[in-house]
Amino acid sequence: MTEEEIGTEETSAEQRRFDEIIAADSRIEPRDWMPDAYRKTLIRQISQHAHSEIIGMQPEGNWITRAPSLKRKAILMAKVQDEAGHGLYLYSAAQTLGITRDEMTDQLITGRARYSSIFNYPTPTWADMGAIGWLVDGAAICNQVPLCRASYGPYGRAMVRVCKEESFHQRQGFEILLTLMQGTDAQRRMAQDAVNRWYWPSLMMFGPPDGDSPNSAQSMVWNIKRFSNDELRQRFIGMLVPQAEVLGVTLPDPELRFDEEAQQYVGGEIDWTEFFEVLAGRGPMNAERVRARREAHEDGAWVREAAAEYARKTTLRQAQGSETGVAA
Ligand SMILES: [Fe+2]
Ligand SMILES: [Fe+2]
Repeated sequence: MTEEEIGTEETSAEQRRFDEIIAADSRIEPRDWMPDAYRKTLIRQISQHAHSEIIGMQPEGNWITRAPSLKRKAILMAKVQDEAGHGLYLYSAAQTLGITRDEMTDQLITGRARYSSIFNYPTPTWADMGAIGWLVDGAAICNQVPLCRASYGPYGRAMVRVCKEESFHQRQGFEILLTLMQGTDAQRRMAQDAVNRWYWPSLMMFGPPDGDSPNSAQSMVWNIKRFSNDELRQRFIGMLVPQAEVLGVTLPDPELRFDEEAQQYVGGEIDWTEFFEVLAGRGPMNAERVRARREAHEDGAWVREAAAEYARKTTLRQAQGSETGVAA
């Protein structure tokens, strides 16, 4: 047997082992062999997810200084900090696949990385904080609960913690809208206007229709994705309808109806041209979001340098301590 043949044999034994783990619906861990395409798919998905959490801090971060009360400010700050934490778990999960944090940051601030298009819309009113929590975090939960069972261990485990926090985010958004809907006419109009603007983009968060989603099938075979984009979107609409009734807001889809045969709510056609415009970087806030992230990264350079220097000195002191037998 030539060296090359041995190599091939080894690879296929590893591939078989990988296939067995997937077939048993068990987990792949960083130490395990995995096909290159599986690794690449995960790096792309997890890093995009991490970028979305980090960029997603901006639309709401804009309102921290303008929150209408101390209580609202404290809640909003906690929520935005949670999103930073989600970004960090996810960057760490992606790092276990062999990409560095610096590479991912560089891809983001040079505009080469994707993140969820939903964060490229502006937040002109306080009601946007309610609509984002209710609709955007709500859609995120529908998307992410099945990801808790993703076949890649670090990703699934990160999702468990993320989802617990997302349900708090959704509740706080719902509660902001409920308070506004119980207020003055102007407040009710503000809440309805925010729901009108965020409803369709939140449905687009599930991605293109199943027929136009080329990577979905493979991700389902690998147990990364558990339900199709359209299934998840449908589930989300079904969740929103009774909540909209409690709020007293109208979902801005005149064709939305209950289908007796399918026993579920069915919505009208989504205008995908807008989605693809925003995806192509021509959304209202694309350039602004990446610019703000790049500036924050540059302004934070001295913090990274100071932390690295502190770590270097600490290591040095510890090494000197162990040489002289003195505990550091
Ligand atoms: Fe999040
Ligand atoms: Fe969230």
